[in-house]
Amino acid sequence: MHGGAGYIAAERRAAHAEGCARAAEVGAAILRAGGSAVDAVEAAVRALEDDPLFNAGTGACLNEDGVIELDAAIMEGATLRAGGVAAMPPFKNPIAIARAAMEDGRHVLYAAHGAARFAMSKGFARATVDELRTDHAYDRWRALKDGQATEKGYAGGTVGAVARDAQGHVAAATSTGGMMDKAAGRVGDTPLLGAGTWADDDHGAASTTGHGEAFIRTAFAVRVVEGLAHATDLEAHLAADLSRMRARTGSCGGVILVDCKGSAAWARNTETMSWAVVRMDGAGESRESGA
Ligand code: GLY
Repeated sequence: MHGGAGYIAAERRAAHAEGCARAAEVGAAILRAGGSAVDAVEAAVRALEDDPLFNAGTGACLNEDGVIELDAAIMEGATLRAGGVAAMPPFKNPIAIARAAMEDGRHVLYAAHGAARFAMSKGFARATVDELRTDHAYDRWRALKDGQATEKGYAGGTVGAVARDAQGHVAAATSTGGMMDKAAGRVGDTPLLGAGTWADDDHGAASTTGHGEAFIRTAFAVRVVEGLAHATDLEAHLAADLSRMRARTGSCGGVILVDCKGSAAWARNTETMSWAVVRMDGAGESRESGA
């Protein structure tokens, strides 16, 4: 589970780590009961979309017009089935709409008013900007508009989950409001398969967070997952790919990954990234989190 790479003020870090840990438990409960990786990552991401601390669903950041446009995607590694929404008007749980697109199967990615129309055809109710906008998101947006931003650069808060289930299937899900004060219609890496979200049972699954344009330009998620074929140390592999992205684009971020054997790893080259992991095998369970 990640809750976004970037810069989170020191006094907020513990709450971000705790939010990630709670969401990871939601996914772990599904896996513990024999559920699928794709059900686990959807439920875990929904938990953070509902947590106002994070830049997804409730708490999403505002674009240059002061409105909310949402990106999300989900992918399962067994079949390479996937669904996504991009620059979508406010809905409470974009990841559930991405999952509906995946299950519907007609198309993979829906954008803007077409995404809203698809969502409503599947029974999802639209939300208002007021319902999803938090005081914290508004205050950050207002400060940027007034030239008085106190947080440094990309403040993060994108959420994502990866999982491997007992059947050996992997899945990834990512959801975000994107970048604060982004242009209307801007789409980040999150809903773009291979950039911000990727899952393939042959190798593993990844979800990214950070400067979306850089993850798009480097096809980050698919490259980091397929690079597992030659990786011996997961953390070093992730760190090397983030370094390469910074060298080629000048941008930073973070990534979480699970490989097809069930090993989990994460890396960032930003100041902070909130994260949590639950590991379970025949010997028992362990959990860690941080920011
Ligand atoms: N990584 C999230 C975004 O740039 O939209």
